Amino acid sequence: MAQLESRRAIVTGAAGALGAVICEVFAREGANVGGLDLNADGLAATGERVRAAGREWTGTAVDLTDFDAVQDATAGLIDRLGGVDVLVNCAGGGAVSFFHEMSPETWRTQMARNLDQVFNATRAVLPSMLAARSGRIINIASIAAVSGGRLVRGATAYAAAKAGVIGLTKALAIEVAEQGVTVNAIAPGAQATPGRDKDTPERREALLAQIPTRLLGNPEHLAEAIVFLAGPAGVNVTGVVLPLDGGHSI
Ligand SMILES: NC(=O)c1ccc[n+]([C@@H]2O[C@H](COP(=O)([O-])OP(=O)(O)OC[C@H]3O[C@@H](n4cnc5c(N)ncnc54)[C@H](O)[C@@H]3O)[C@@H](O)[C@H]2O)c1
Repeated sequence: MAQLESRRAIVTGAAGALGAVICEVFAREGANVGGLDLNADGLAATGERVRAAGREWTGTAVDLTDFDAVQDATAGLIDRLGGVDVLVNCAGGGAVSFFHEMSPETWRTQMARNLDQVFNATRAVLPSMLAARSGRIINIASIAAVSGGRLVRGATAYAAAKAGVIGLTKALAIEVAEQGVTVNAIAPGAQATPGRDKDTPERREALLAQIPTRLLGNPEHLAEAIVFLAGPAGVNVTGVVLPLDGGHSI
């Protein structure tokens, strides 16, 4: 049985490697999906995948670091979806920069890309969820927030921003728990996305050597974990940070 039948979900970063898979798996589980991303062509491609799964799609290209633009774009999605039950904050991404030479601009950009946008999108959906006394928010953090990144030297700003996502998740979970809204985070380790295809064999082996299961994450499995948090069985799960990293952060 579909776990998200007739749920209305908004996914940020919906044009990206993980965001597109989350949208498609959500659609297979019965949800209608709204996507936000900078990349209009990528959004259209994700929309095709959602429609191929037989569900409704609406997407808006927006810079998620722009608070006012996100409020407007999200209001449009909520209007077209007829409400919002689930928000997945997936947009983000790291940039390698060594701390001793990092510019304030690089620091601020990483904070904006990985933390501010979670505030912007969550702030845009929360009033609707509180009014409905029901909602699920799932934030994509990173193993970097938990373990410092290990293999990737130069990830301090990204790790700090993703640790901020975890703090936001826990504090907001407490703030809205009695109003029927759950807030959880996923902390993925390295996923088998197309971005990993450029790894040299040496780098791949070094990465796998640090992962107890010796497996990269499967994006479909990550999406199914989010379905659990967004679906009926997740109703009493809140404030959790779920590592999906093959034991890398142990
Ligand atoms: N892929 C991994 O191995 C991995 C591991 C841990 C955490 N993560 C996290 O998972 C999330 C998704 O990763 P991914 O591999 O799909 O990355 P990706 O680069 O494929 O997708 C990220 C998406 O976010 C969008 N985006 C970035 N900044 C934006 C902005 N300001 N406004 C609008 N859209 C913006 C991009 O356009 C892109 O489509 C990210 O938050 C990332 O930090 C990924």
